[in-house]
Amino acid sequence: MIDAISFKDKTLHYIDQRFLPLQEKYVATQDYKEAIEAIKTLAVRGAPLIGVAAAYTIMLGINSFNGTKEEFPSFFKSLVAEVEASRPTAVNLFFAAARMKKVYDENFEADTIEVLFAKMNEAASKIHADEIANCDAMSRHGVDQIKIDLAEILKTRKLNVLTHCNTGTLACCGTGSALGVIRLAWQEGLIERVITAESRPLLQGLRLTAWELQQDGIPFVSISDSSSAFLMQRGMIDFGIVGADRIAANGDSANKIGTCAHAISLYHHKLPFYIAAPVSTIDITIPDGTHIPIEERNADELRTIFGTQVATPTTPVLNYAFDVTPSYLIRGIITDKKAVVGNYVEGLAALM
Ligand code: MRU
Repeated sequence: MIDAISFKDKTLHYIDQRFLPLQEKYVATQDYKEAIEAIKTLAVRGAPLIGVAAAYTIMLGINSFNGTKEEFPSFFKSLVAEVEASRPTAVNLFFAAARMKKVYDENFEADTIEVLFAKMNEAASKIHADEIANCDAMSRHGVDQIKIDLAEILKTRKLNVLTHCNTGTLACCGTGSALGVIRLAWQEGLIERVITAESRPLLQGLRLTAWELQQDGIPFVSISDSSSAFLMQRGMIDFGIVGADRIAANGDSANKIGTCAHAISLYHHKLPFYIAAPVSTIDITIPDGTHIPIEERNADELRTIFGTQVATPTTPVLNYAFDVTPSYLIRGIITDKKAVVGNYVEGLAALM
């Protein structure tokens, strides 16, 4: 498995996902501004990975600090604010920043600056290790749920699964959230073929998920985002599973733009649709999906395809990066603690 992100000798290492799969470009930086830029430009991306990157970016900032202990609080506050402003939707970023702030709040008074920094470094590594472990737990819960829900089909044949965007190692550090479930399901002989929706405009499905599946030798086929309903009509999809960037208290889930259209089609065809996401993706402070901040990205991402202009530069464009799938369309939310089905308000609250 590739190392999508790591932190060694005060240096952040990551694979620049913008160039995949055609180029494997590894970057090493000690500059926290460069790391923030990597989050903004999607060189590093995917909700759990954004959280890990945020924690390490805070460490890069801290390591660049050369003032006195008295000067540190205001430096730290503006550093965290800068990191938090990089991308708005994936709550894992804010969750990771909050964990770093907690270590600061609890230790600043008592510790020397060196001891404080060492504790924060430990916290960042722990956030990373937790996300890796979360993937294994989610995969197990997800496969167990699929075995229950799709037992009838599994008596006679294997399953065809639809997924959207990239939720694998590149997005989560470990085996992945939705892709982790798919990987384990395939290892256990449940999967016939994975159908990866391309995920316009930045093609995380076509470029990144396909790349990860190819490396694992898992059978897959890529489709345009608009093909999924047609494949369902033809009986070519048995269920769908994706990740999430933020899940509200009632289970409404934000994920890569295009997800909601797949979910509506799956619901129409009476096929189960799952969200797989660690508890760090649940935002229990917001009651429903209308409160999830949705990132709007640069119009040129749509007007161009990898640098080639495909529409006039003045074409008006709406480029929302995420949409929100209402919880009634979701059969189950697979977390690292358990698979929540049924009453999401109660089920998700019980996890927190
Ligand atoms: O804009 P991106 O590539 O960061 O969006 C990523 C997604 O939408 C993923 O599906 C989501 O983060 C879940 S990854 C476990």
